[in-house]
Amino acid sequence: MNLKVNIGNLELKNPVLVASGTFGFGREYSHYIDLDDLGGIMVKGLTLYPKEGNPPPRIYETPSGILNSVGLQNPGVDAFIKDELPFLNRFNTKVIANIAGETIEEFVSLAQKLNIDGVDALEINVSCPNVKEGGMSFGVDPNSVYAITKKVKQASNKTVIVKLTPNVTDIKIYAKAAEDGGADAISLINTVTGMAIDINTRRPVFKNVFAGLSGPAIKPIALKNVYEAKRAVSIPVIGMGGISSAEDALEFMIAGATAVAVGTYNFINPAGSIDILEGIKKYMLRNSIFDVNQLMNSINV
Ligand code: DOR
Repeated sequence: MNLKVNIGNLELKNPVLVASGTFGFGREYSHYIDLDDLGGIMVKGLTLYPKEGNPPPRIYETPSGILNSVGLQNPGVDAFIKDELPFLNRFNTKVIANIAGETIEEFVSLAQKLNIDGVDALEINVSCPNVKEGGMSFGVDPNSVYAITKKVKQASNKTVIVKLTPNVTDIKIYAKAAEDGGADAISLINTVTGMAIDINTRRPVFKNVFAGLSGPAIKPIALKNVYEAKRAVSIPVIGMGGISSAEDALEFMIAGATAVAVGTYNFINPAGSIDILEGIKKYMLRNSIFDVNQLMNSINV
């Protein structure tokens, strides 16, 4: 059975990744799963300098998913390279560094710093809804998506993936902007903006008022965005958003995703990504599919 897929020049041993921000730098999960079994790890968003993130509360659970307002808390790119990358490189899996600049120049610096052995790809985060500078403000502007992608591509010889926001009217425009900027792939979706109110104080739960919704609630939105984006570009699409079962992952592949990333479900089942991979294999056996690439974009419409 062939499970290998290609994202630009990057070959993944299988199509199951873990989504940025839901897997830290892999340490905690290494107690539950063998990280070698993953197609790749998309690490927590990295900024040029250490970032404390937003004031609490940062997480609010809803019956269908989680609202987060983490605000890109991370130790900064230098500490990642020094303290986290050597750990990740002990495993035979791909390391995809999610980068979040507040300016185009910061994206370039991040790309330059990460243009080193042990980093296999960059995922440009232009879609975080929880920061005032950068984040989603870039992702809702096609010119910024294009310009950032182009500059990062020039600064790096890694595979470049652009992570898009669903908080736009026409995803095709943004997918195309990333492709035109030279992206090797796009990944989608980041979280959907939402809010929650404390009825006792009548205050928004989050200091920023809005937050990012993830989990099963956003799966149909994500699937639709993947399907539409795939039809707008010829580069690979990495699908994510509420994937909680092998069946969910298969829907994304059939809709056009070359690989999928498991996000919020990691919090519910730390071995969820591996369970999903096993489920994909079972489906392939049951349906006499010998190459996982046969599934990709196989939708009958
Ligand atoms: O929902 C999100 N939360 N998406 C991101 O890209 C970053 C994260 C955060 O740190 O706020």
